[in-house]
Amino acid sequence: MNSTIEELVQSLTLEEKAGLCSGRDFWRTKAVERLGIPAMMMSDGPHGLRAQKPGSSLPNDSIEAVCYPAGCAAAASFDPTLTRRMGAALGREARAAGVQMVLGPAINIKRSPLCGRNFEYYSEDPFLAGELAAAFIQGVQGEGVAACPKHFAANNQETRRLTVDSRLDERTLHEIYLPAFETAVREGRPWSLMCSYNRVNGVYASEHRQLLTELLRDSWGFAGFTVSDWGAVNDRVQGLAAGLDLEMPGSGGVNDARLVEAVRSGALDEAVLDKAAARILNIVLRTADLARAPAENGAANGHALAVELAKESAVLLRNLGALPLHPGQKVAYIGAFAETPRFQGGGSSHVNTRGAVGALEAARRGGRTVQYVAGFPADRDQRDEPEFLRAVAAAESADVAVIFAGLPEFFESEGADRRHMRLPDCQNNLIARVAAVQKNTVVVLHTGAPVECPWAEDVSAVLCMYLAGEGVGEAADALLWGDANPAGRLPETWPLRLEDTPCYLDYPGDGVTADYREGVFVGYRWYDARRMAVRWPFGHGLSYTGFVYRDAALDRPTLTEDGEATLRVRIRNSGAVPGSEVVQLYVSDATGAPAPGGRAPQALRGFQKVRLEPGQECEICFTLTARDLSHYDERLHGWYAAPGRYELRLGHSSRDIRITVPLQFETQRFPPLTVDGTTPLGLLLADPRTAVTAQKLLDGRGGDGDGLMPPEAMAQMLDATPLRELTDCSAPDGLLAALRRDVDAS
Ligand code: BGC
Repeated sequence: MNSTIEELVQSLTLEEKAGLCSGRDFWRTKAVERLGIPAMMMSDGPHGLRAQKPGSSLPNDSIEAVCYPAGCAAAASFDPTLTRRMGAALGREARAAGVQMVLGPAINIKRSPLCGRNFEYYSEDPFLAGELAAAFIQGVQGEGVAACPKHFAANNQETRRLTVDSRLDERTLHEIYLPAFETAVREGRPWSLMCSYNRVNGVYASEHRQLLTELLRDSWGFAGFTVSDWGAVNDRVQGLAAGLDLEMPGSGGVNDARLVEAVRSGALDEAVLDKAAARILNIVLRTADLARAPAENGAANGHALAVELAKESAVLLRNLGALPLHPGQKVAYIGAFAETPRFQGGGSSHVNTRGAVGALEAARRGGRTVQYVAGFPADRDQRDEPEFLRAVAAAESADVAVIFAGLPEFFESEGADRRHMRLPDCQNNLIARVAAVQKNTVVVLHTGAPVECPWAEDVSAVLCMYLAGEGVGEAADALLWGDANPAGRLPETWPLRLEDTPCYLDYPGDGVTADYREGVFVGYRWYDARRMAVRWPFGHGLSYTGFVYRDAALDRPTLTEDGEATLRVRIRNSGAVPGSEVVQLYVSDATGAPAPGGRAPQALRGFQKVRLEPGQECEICFTLTARDLSHYDERLHGWYAAPGRYELRLGHSSRDIRITVPLQFETQRFPPLTVDGTTPLGLLLADPRTAVTAQKLLDGRGGDGDGLMPPEAMAQMLDATPLRELTDCSAPDGLLAALRRDVDAS
């Protein structure tokens, strides 16, 4: 504890210390005026400031602010410099509004496309989510404002989100649901972190000592304070003891009194309360200094930035040639989203924005001639026959039909999960009809998560804007007409249908528990392991230009436990227009080592976005360590990579690998191996420590089953045979002892 903070804590009364650990109201901590401790103001959120209007206590009465691309879109940029810039812009706006803490980024993993809050979250992949989150945090905090990654942890559904018990095994928790938080903490160094509402394996996240203290602080080095999600406190005393510092929004003093009572009765060590108060004070004082020097005009140029970020975040999913549009073409815009685009989601992240310019208005402002027919409404699933037919006729008589489709607001929101993955029928039907009469049909999507696209093979092009913020219309206009080149990549798989998704049978659970039975097979890990066809794979995204990969090379053929290897590759823009490529690096374990719980065929371990002029070439390099090859091993309670061969796959998407480079890994570290009479021979043969001795045992036996069974079956029988069947396990100098010596020697 810093000495001034420590002194300050010592000057606080017990009641004041308890009071500091909960909010005064919905958005503020308590001031302690006699000691000059100011209140700290916080506000949502991840993609725009939702700061309460000064003097107002009405719910959702927030100041006007810039609405940047929501998490779903920002993640599609595959660009940490973009989330850093967004964070910095938010930080400046926050300072100008007197806000010291921004409640974001939201980084939970997208376990199912149905989660109502997926639009706020980044990805199905922990590596991508972590890198983007760390940069966002650095951006916000670079302005002197605290960031607050949320919601820790395993909060992947809205159904019964306040009480549901997420049940998952140790490996799945550590390999899929925690790493984004770990990277956010280790690289972003956030000054605060928000715990989630739900329980994790039976314990409320707000009381989870293993998560809030052992992992977060002791293992990852988190140095800020933890805050409850709004109303997530279950047992305040237990929560504080487990590592939950600040309760928001507060309990009207009830829980403060409980803390005081617990200290007085000896149930809670006062030193624990002191620590929590000190952690909060530390950030209150740190951010107060900058709050005294607010940024000028925080939202200046905010709209221009929102447009720029939206352009970088859109994903061109398909293009048989209808895009980009050309000035000489007769173009029909269809769908009410052209006029009133959907660009943000509902719930606590909702920004009171000045509004977005639709693509139709953007086209008009740019002097483009387009015909417009609404065709269907943006806010409901309702078919109006004459309007439907007018849209079909307009499409038929045009050179190109651009349909602006998407999910109405009430389809996806915080607080509720979707029940299906379909667009409204009125939209699907119109798209199918238009595609039947117009070969140059383009669909522009405004959704916060994947939808089923039954018409995908029948249209010429699909451009996904996700929920792109207030710059959506201007960005769509620039991308459709080729003034900007699409550069986004999918941060999640778009499956063919809901029934294909990894947790289809278990999501969202029975209302009491959510069993994560799919384990680590989330997102592309699932589709790849099952070799399933998908609509569009993770990492996918097209461009108006092409890229050539060449000369991939490692600086060494072998990586060791504490070493590093550098992989280089050259990328060239082989087309006629400037464009950005996202070079993706996937690692595949080809060691053949036994994989308890199964191994995903590949995992993203690096990505870099580069902008290249036509003909321009550059070199990209990735640095790899043992952790990049590792999976979480429950036997070690830690990360582990088996020795042997790995494949480094460089590609344009998870299913468009351009170059594969082998890498050998050497290690003397092994997971524990128990050798006793019940150990199957196969385990010993597969383990480098015991393989030689075990093979001797096998060689000594001779025989091939006397032709009773095929050799493969015989091999499997031997593989399964326990040691006690093969040797006298009680002999002190026997084989069992030799095998144990092998293991101990390593
Ligand atoms: C949400 C948080 C949000 C908080 C304050 C909660 O309901 O889950 O993400 O920051 O409200 O608005």
